[in-house]
Amino acid sequence: RPELRLTRPIVLVGLMGAGKSTTGRRLARRLGVGFADADDEIEEAAGMRIADIFEIYGEAEFRDLERKVMQRLLAEGPRVLATGGGAFMNDETRAMVKDLGTSVWLKADLDTHVRRTALRDTRPILRKGDPKSILAKLIEERSPIYAQADITVESHDGPHKDTVGKIVKAL
Ligand code: S3P
Repeated sequence: RPELRLTRPIVLVGLMGAGKSTTGRRLARRLGVGFADADDEIEEAAGMRIADIFEIYGEAEFRDLERKVMQRLLAEGPRVLATGGGAFMNDETRAMVKDLGTSVWLKADLDTHVRRTALRDTRPILRKGDPKSILAKLIEERSPIYAQADITVESHDGPHKDTVGKIVKAL
């Protein structure tokens, strides 16, 4: 029997390398619900990699597509959704998420973001300069907006990291 019956989608938000996709997949398994990753859904809808969408069409077009994909995902019923780090920054997307979902900010420190994002070179925003300074600036700019999520859970690397357990407790 599931420990918790979802009535709304759980939407994980936070900066690149917060662990949204990994935590999201584990949380969905624990709750016995489906999981979708907005970045993957965008790539499938566009038939292109995110880096190519940025390069060929630009960030504004990407945000527009992201908003449409999020609108569809939010309408597909209760499950766990991982978003791209910029999704919650978009006013319309954030309004939809706040309206239809339970948002969870996965909050981590700069070093954690640097370490985790270095594992995969797929993020166009981090290719524009030194990833650590870019991430530091984004933490400063975006934290006040991520903080508007319904729930905040710390997701730093470390021995006591049990992000899924903390989310379940907070739901
Ligand atoms: C972005 C984060 C990425 C991806 C795109 C833009 C951002 O998702 O959507 O590269 O603006 O923070 P992840 O947070 O899953 O890396």
